[in-house]
Amino acid sequence: MEVQSDRLNIERRQESLSEVRFGGPNWQDLTSVIGPRMKAVWMVYDRQVEAIATQVSAHLGDQGVRLLGLHGLEVDESMKRMDRLEPLYSQMIADGVTRDSWLLAIGGGVLSDFAGYAAASFLRGIDWVAVPTTLLAQVDAAIGGKVAVNLREGKNLIGAFHLPQLVYINPWALQTLPIEGWRTGLGEVVKSALIEGGPLWQSLVAGIPPLGQVDEHWRWVIKTTAKIKVDVVNRDLEETGDRIFLNFGHTLAHALEQMTGYGQWSHGQAVGVGSLYALYLSEKQLGLDPTIRALVTEWLKAWGLPTVLPHLDYAALEPVLLRDKKARVSGLCWVLLQSPGNPKVVRDVPKNLIEEALGALSES
Ligand SMILES: NC(=O)c1ccc[n+]([C@@H]2O[C@H](COP(=O)([O-])OP(=O)(O)OC[C@H]3O[C@@H](n4cnc5c(N)ncnc54)[C@H](O)[C@@H]3O)[C@@H](O)[C@H]2O)c1
Ligand SMILES: [Zn+2]
Repeated sequence: MEVQSDRLNIERRQESLSEVRFGGPNWQDLTSVIGPRMKAVWMVYDRQVEAIATQVSAHLGDQGVRLLGLHGLEVDESMKRMDRLEPLYSQMIADGVTRDSWLLAIGGGVLSDFAGYAAASFLRGIDWVAVPTTLLAQVDAAIGGKVAVNLREGKNLIGAFHLPQLVYINPWALQTLPIEGWRTGLGEVVKSALIEGGPLWQSLVAGIPPLGQVDEHWRWVIKTTAKIKVDVVNRDLEETGDRIFLNFGHTLAHALEQMTGYGQWSHGQAVGVGSLYALYLSEKQLGLDPTIRALVTEWLKAWGLPTVLPHLDYAALEPVLLRDKKARVSGLCWVLLQSPGNPKVVRDVPKNLIEEALGALSES
């Protein structure tokens, strides 16, 4: 499929709320798009992508945009905490950030969640731009305006919907991303192909691209996966309907991440095997063709992702599953698949099947 344009919009009644642009390989097209819109910008970036931040700030300076601050942060999941926000807000005050200043965040999903939440809450919300630099952030985390920090009690429990004015996706930013960083984003690619079917699914069936190269196939996969997220978000901005399909593979993945201690399993590893788990349930509940799971298992293996679960005790798993943010009053709901492109929400998956699937996918 040709993704027709380099520009997509998250919109309400045809009014664009958030623009998603694809660009690269240089950064001038980003700054020529945002430069004329902003008077003053406060930049925060992941130190791993300092070279990008330096180029972007220089181009913005050339455009006559006032640079209020340029702050590199050491990024890891533990920064997504309330107590790390306060010094950031103080720095913003000290640098003279006001309601009409923009925040520009360059980094992966951790930085876009954290800085995006700062943009959502500082002075009750300022405009912001996300420049995602990991595969996960380019195809998922930076798109759709969900921003959050963690609590000790769980991930992403404090947050907001605060759409960035622009998400600028430059696949060339991934040139420096270690292979593990690529793997973390693959769960979302597989999930998107499964729930949307169509060209992304067909292209992966025809052959999966090897990790680590920003080649034409990857640029197309990134653009197509990002477009799937934009389309789903557009159908359901406030997450009351179709957006739940993006949770495919995530019910078990979240439980796995939590039960093994965050960091043991990367998100991509957890969503990969969580997708296999959901496919197994789909075979039993919706009659899904089992060759789909065999194929996805092959891809995960080829990409170096695990395809079996560690031993999970059902009695310990059940309360964790039920704590999932997506568990509704009516109890657990699973996103399952009838066929690629045809996801369904299923509420009444029997306990014995949930247990049977754990056994079927566990290491023997
Ligand atoms: N808001 C949402 O809708 C949403 C959706 C999915 C995930 N998330 C969040 O995203 C976060 C995970 O994001 P992530 O996987 O991007 O992690 P991350 O931001 O921690 O990035 C992973 C690692 O890559 C480094 N890095 C980033 N860009 C790089 C580059 N171009 N070259 C070299 N190194 C680079 C980072 O410093 C970090 O060490 C989680 O906190 C998750 O909750 C949010
Ligand atoms: Zn995910």
